[in-house]
Amino acid sequence: MTVDRLLPTPEAHDLLDLTRELATRELAGKVDDFEARGEFPREALRTLGRSGLLGLPYPEEAGGAGQPYEVYVQVLEVLAGTWLGIAEAVSVHTLSCLPVAFFGTAEQRKMLPDMLGGETLGAFALSEPQGGSDAASLTTRAVAEPDAWVVTGTKAWITHGGQADFYNLFCRTGGPGPKGISCLLADAATPGLLPQQPERLMGLRSSAPAQIVLEEARVPRDRLVGAEGEGFAIAMKALDAGRLGIAACAVGLAQGALDHAIGYAREREQFGQPIGRFQGLGFMLADMGTQISAARALLLNAARLKDAGRPFSTEAAKAKLFATDVAMRVTTDAVQILGGAGYVSDHPVERWFREAKVLQIVEGTNQIQRMVIARSLLG
Ligand code: CAA
Repeated sequence: MTVDRLLPTPEAHDLLDLTRELATRELAGKVDDFEARGEFPREALRTLGRSGLLGLPYPEEAGGAGQPYEVYVQVLEVLAGTWLGIAEAVSVHTLSCLPVAFFGTAEQRKMLPDMLGGETLGAFALSEPQGGSDAASLTTRAVAEPDAWVVTGTKAWITHGGQADFYNLFCRTGGPGPKGISCLLADAATPGLLPQQPERLMGLRSSAPAQIVLEEARVPRDRLVGAEGEGFAIAMKALDAGRLGIAACAVGLAQGALDHAIGYAREREQFGQPIGRFQGLGFMLADMGTQISAARALLLNAARLKDAGRPFSTEAAKAKLFATDVAMRVTTDAVQILGGAGYVSDHPVERWFREAKVLQIVEGTNQIQRMVIARSLLG
């Protein structure tokens, strides 16, 4: 189904067309294979980078494409309708560029053209085995020596772990709590930065996260991003933007599942007519379409607030919460509409159903999103 999109510029229309073309030409034929083998699609990401899709919402003078978030999230949506692993990788890479882009020193910002052009791939290492939702309790320690921060600890669930060229390491440089956390930018080649085996996931297997063990990893002193003690605020600001990306992935995934279910309901006949003509199924499709439109509207509203420089943290949390719950419901219903065919891997809805689950968990579980929303409501 073609989604009727209101885009702000002719350039944005061209960008969406380019994304659809890349998705069809470069991605659609590969996704099943890469998911089955659990292989990370690094080359496909390079292709997207060369087409300008890995630095979309960053200023042109920094090497980005200068696109508003309103447009960037719709590009992600199109990618997610074809290959969630790629869309999530673009989203996490974009998130990983944020600390340097907005808090980096002039020297650090010299790395931005390679980051935003997709020559280098980023990772965002905040979570730890004992500190996921309670990010401020992280224990990875960075000790200042004259020439380096010496980092010891373990990071967990790191998207692009073992694939990334640079890591945002959120470490404790001071006392307990959020004010004791700083952000360091580490190269993948840092001695003592040791990616572990990728996790074995229920879905999203082409982009499996990994733990990163840090054994006295020496990160140069000039790689502190922002001020000492500012790391937690940087992480939260980055995640506010990142949550828009995850919401966009959810909307795209749900739209893909709806489109597939519609195609099936038109063609599959039972009792002498296409199954979509039965009210029970027609109403399911109607609810799926309505929920997706509502999720997209929440997402675009949050993105437009961000583009206007207005506070958007709570609206991003609402968009992430709602859109990922919608993706779970819609993919569940898509499996139901296909019946037995939906439960086998001949149709992508089986994969989308497994993939939707992770979106309710990553970049802040939906319980955390509710906490953020409730705190903002209560003051
Ligand atoms: N923007 C800027 N600053 C923020 C902020 C935001 N959105 N949210 C909080 N802060 C600031 C607060 O203002 C406060 O500073 P002050 O004391 O100066 O006011 C400080 O940060 C501490 O805030 P809280 O007291 O609210 O902190 P908290 O410990 O209660 O935690 C939380 C708040 C929202 C629950 C936070 O811990 C959270 O978001 N948890 C989920 C973490 C998460 O999303 N993890 C997934 C990471 S994804 C990943 O790592 C894998 C990957 O590959 C991407």
